Amino acid sequence: MTTNLDLPRRSERPQFLVDHPSGTGEGPLWDERTGTVTWNDIPAGHLFRYDPADGSNTLLYEHDAMIGGHTLQEDGSIILFCSDGRIAHLDPKGETSVIVEQIDAVNGSRFNDVIADPAGRVLCGTMPLEHGPAHLYRLDTDGSLHLVWDDLGLSNGMGFGPDEKTFYLSDSDHGVIYRADYDKTTGELANREVLIRLEDDGAVPDGMTVDAHGDLWLAVWDGACLLHFAADGSPIDKVEFPVQKVSSLNFGGPDYDFAYVTTAGGNERSEAEGVLAGSLFGIALENVTGKPDYHSRIETTAP
Ligand code: BGC
Ligand code: CA
Repeated sequence: MTTNLDLPRRSERPQFLVDHPSGTGEGPLWDERTGTVTWNDIPAGHLFRYDPADGSNTLLYEHDAMIGGHTLQEDGSIILFCSDGRIAHLDPKGETSVIVEQIDAVNGSRFNDVIADPAGRVLCGTMPLEHGPAHLYRLDTDGSLHLVWDDLGLSNGMGFGPDEKTFYLSDSDHGVIYRADYDKTTGELANREVLIRLEDDGAVPDGMTVDAHGDLWLAVWDGACLLHFAADGSPIDKVEFPVQKVSSLNFGGPDYDFAYVTTAGGNERSEAEGVLAGSLFGIALENVTGKPDYHSRIETTAP
């Protein structure tokens, strides 16, 4: 299905939560164990924890290189997906250990969005090198890495349908959301097809999530909105944002009825980009409930 941004506007307005000029804010994840949200600023290599109870936003970890994405582990630790294909384990004391040192095909570039699957594996996508394709990898719980797709344009947000048999991936460069069959026993993906094609000057699909009903919510980079689609790809409506680069979202709160939304462009704050660019936003969407994200269960040799 092809769509542009010309959809009915929802009446809800995003709430501004944290004023931070992120170059690329990304990856908000609700942690139900602490009632907080972790999110990262990719180019700065910063990982934050936002606490809605007191509105504080704490720097949890600072990396000397970019952090493209992260997952929350079942055991309370965190996996970081960084530059050059590096994957690291961050323990609760703030110590890191390496899981994957480097991937040749990603050397000079970096990981982008990642997602834990129902079995605790992680699907992790990459940005292209200056030329050539982007890749999707699967990190299995034993720490082994497998190439899944090698023909993406720019791998971005991902989601699983509530049936745990459907996988979605947004490809910013191809301007599409792919849908594929997903086998949670093996982690295999099959029958990939284009579900949604976004046609709009300059606006590209970025992060995404799937709500409890199976609808898709897509953050639109340079589109100043979230787009809402039915599971069959039909466009429904949109939520407008006061910043151009809406980068990612996930539902959280004890009842999963509040979406946490990251934005980018904070390094170039302006009237055009949005004076709050790079900040963390939140929004309650009437009659919409999200579903919990999965925790990764990557085994590490760390003590
Ligand atoms: C990436 C950015 C990219 C944007 C739009 C984000 O996920 O981190 O580097 O420009 O998507 O494609
Ligand atoms: Ca993204």
